[in-house]
Amino acid sequence: MILSQLPTLGTGLGFRQPFKSDLFLNRQQVDFLEIVAEHYLDSPWHKQQELELLAAHFPIIPHAINLSLGSAEGLDVDYLRKLAALVKQLNPPWWSEHICFTQAGGVDIGHLSPLPYTQEAVEVVCRNIAEVRRWIDMPFIVENITYMVTLPGAEMTEAQFLAEIVERADCGLLLDVTNLHTNAVNHGYNIDDFLNQLPLERIVQLHFVGGHWHDGVLIDSHSQSTPVEVWQLMDKVVAQVPVKGIVLERDENLPLFSELVGELQQAREIGRSHQRWG
Ligand SMILES: [Fe+2]
Repeated sequence: MILSQLPTLGTGLGFRQPFKSDLFLNRQQVDFLEIVAEHYLDSPWHKQQELELLAAHFPIIPHAINLSLGSAEGLDVDYLRKLAALVKQLNPPWWSEHICFTQAGGVDIGHLSPLPYTQEAVEVVCRNIAEVRRWIDMPFIVENITYMVTLPGAEMTEAQFLAEIVERADCGLLLDVTNLHTNAVNHGYNIDDFLNQLPLERIVQLHFVGGHWHDGVLIDSHSQSTPVEVWQLMDKVVAQVPVKGIVLERDENLPLFSELVGELQQAREIGRSHQRWG
């Protein structure tokens, strides 16, 4: 996959239904949208209409959460068929999923769960990505998640694990800088060491948002404005990487839309200051 040839989208917003009218009133402030794919699979007619309306006004990046790329038993073909139809309908410049598992032994775990950092897990993910490609032949990028526990038996670091997957599967990376900051804080690792182990040229898109503190642990709740440490990390990454898009993914405790627009503007300025876009 030739990532450098992907189009530059700029600064985008994870679409959430509650701010739909504000979004259309502030259309010029949002370069593109990311949608959660699962919101439009098996969805009622009004959701399909919503998607058509969004797609008529914004470039759309589908972001899947339930593909479960780390499932050793393979992928749910029924789900994959529906996801493939959605991605084809939208015909995006790229689409994304997480490096994690959400299904095990036919049970839906309900959240993005970390994989052990082993060769075996790398092979499972790469095999599943190869299967995904048989259904969806479009540029694919994969995201780093947050995790509360590190699984035992690691044969490599988290960054080496991500690097090995994207190199072997020939994917782009969706680097969630908030997830990186959150993991670095909670697990006490050094962000520069992490970045040094990644093939930075594979980073296509970033995610950012703020979380909250609970009993000394930073929770990835997508519920707060973006903290200064994440802005600094975004600046550091964008300085080194020709990112094509940066997406704010606020889910909870939604503020006034003007606050979201302000954060998009700040991310846009970071991209501009490193000549990632005009
Ligand atoms: Fe994310």
